[in-house]
Amino acid sequence: MGQQRDYPSPTLISRYLRETKRKEMQDQVNNLTEKLWQIKEHWSPRVIAELNDYQFKLVKLQGEFVWHSHPDTDEAFFVLSGEMKILFRDREISLSEGDLFIVPKGQEHKPLADSECHVMLVEPRGVVNTGSIESNFTAPNDVWI
Ligand code: NI
Repeated sequence: MGQQRDYPSPTLISRYLRETKRKEMQDQVNNLTEKLWQIKEHWSPRVIAELNDYQFKLVKLQGEFVWHSHPDTDEAFFVLSGEMKILFRDREISLSEGDLFIVPKGQEHKPLADSECHVMLVEPRGVVNTGSIESNFTAPNDVWI
């Protein structure tokens, strides 16, 4: 027998918040340039839109990130401006404005950018920027702008 509840479950609360967010976001045109203005910190992805269970995030990169991997998902990098690299243990990929690259699930990677680079990430809701490791770079998740 299930436990009797007289309060909404966390799942119901998060579904309610999500629906509210969806209504709020309906008909909203996202201008990437304007959204990028709102981002002050490096390595702190901000959510701008959702597509089913996937989120579009903007992030400004500068310097070196930490080695990490995402055990459950691929991760898309779409470079909006600037240049960056993604290091893997056995290779490195150079990306510049207009490039789209998918980091495969489970592969250790380390993004870096010599000077500021603006990127759109596409990944499932709930993905943490430092993947399975906790570090000074670990940013709060699901922060909208
Ligand atoms: Ni990653």
